[in-house]
Amino acid sequence: MIALDSAAKRPEFINVRVRRQDGPGKEPYWQLFKIPYEHELNVISVLQRIAAQAKTSDGQKVAPVTWDCGCLEEVCGSCTMVINGRVRQSCSALVDRLLEDNPDELVLEPMNKFPVVRDLMVDRQRLFRGLEKVKAWVPVDSYYNMGSGERQSQATQEQNYPLSQCMSCGCCVDSCPQYQKIELERMPNESDEDFLKRQNEAFDEAFVGPHAISQAMLFNNHPTGKAIADERMDALTDTGGIQMCGNAQNCVSVCPKEIPLTTSIGRAGRAATVHMIKKWFDK
Ligand code: SF4
Ligand code: SF4
Ligand code: FES
Repeated sequence: MIALDSAAKRPEFINVRVRRQDGPGKEPYWQLFKIPYEHELNVISVLQRIAAQAKTSDGQKVAPVTWDCGCLEEVCGSCTMVINGRVRQSCSALVDRLLEDNPDELVLEPMNKFPVVRDLMVDRQRLFRGLEKVKAWVPVDSYYNMGSGERQSQATQEQNYPLSQCMSCGCCVDSCPQYQKIELERMPNESDEDFLKRQNEAFDEAFVGPHAISQAMLFNNHPTGKAIADERMDALTDTGGIQMCGNAQNCVSVCPKEIPLTTSIGRAGRAATVHMIKKWFDK
C-alpha cells in the first residue's frame, strides 16, 4: 500500500482505466490513460487532465472522455459514476484516498442502471420520472400571497430535514437489485412525443426506487404537501410501487447524504397498508 503522505513514495503517474462507449446502444470498451501524479486531485480533475491530453497510455490519439458535472461540491448529483467498483460522486472522490485502497489504478465506469449517453455520462430521466410519479412536490393552489403556511413542529423538521437533502444522484437506485435498467430503442419513424410516451410507460411499470419512496414520505409529512398524500400513496401502491422493494438495504449503505432510506421505506410500507385498508372501507 502507498503511504501517500510520504513524498518519496508518491507514484510518478496515475493509471486510469475508463469504460468508454461511443453512444447509446454501442458496444462498451476499455481504454487506459496515464497522467502525472499531483497531490489532492479529485476524479473530475483527473478527467480534465485526460481530456487535455486526449491520448491513451500507449500514445494513441483518442476523443476526450465525456462525463457530466455541475456544482463540484456534492450537491447536484450529476457527476455520479462507478469509481473502483463503488457508485459515488466523482467531484468528492479524492484520488489520494482511492490510491490508498488501490495503488495500481483508478477504474471509472458509467452507472449501471441508466442508459449511457456517451462514456461516463448517463441519461437519468427515469430518476426524475419516479419523482413525477409520486408527486414529490408541495402543491400550489394559487400564486397570490396567502400568508405564511402552517408551522412545522421541531419533531417534524428533524424527521424531514435529512430526507430533504436528496440530490437525485441515483446512487441508491444503481445499487438496488430491484431497480433494473430500462433502455428502449427508438422505432423507425417514431416521433419524439411517441418515444417519450412509450418510455414513460415502461418507467411507470418498473420499480419506482428508494429515492422516490423517500421523497413521497418527505412531502406526505409536510404540512402543505400532505394535501395530496393519498395521491402519493396511490402511486406507491400501484405497479412498480413499494411492494417491489426486497429490503436488501443496499440503497441506504451507498447514499452519499446518509438519508435513512430504509426508515422511509418502512414508513411507506406501513402507510401503504393503512391506505389500502382505508380504500377498501371507502368502497
Ligand atoms: S431496500 Fe429496497 S429499495 Fe433499498 S436496495 Fe433494497 S430493494 Fe432496493
Ligand atoms: S436518496 Fe441518496 S443516493 Fe438516492 S438519489 Fe437521493 S441522495 Fe442520491
Ligand atoms: S458535480 Fe455536483 S455532485 Fe459532483
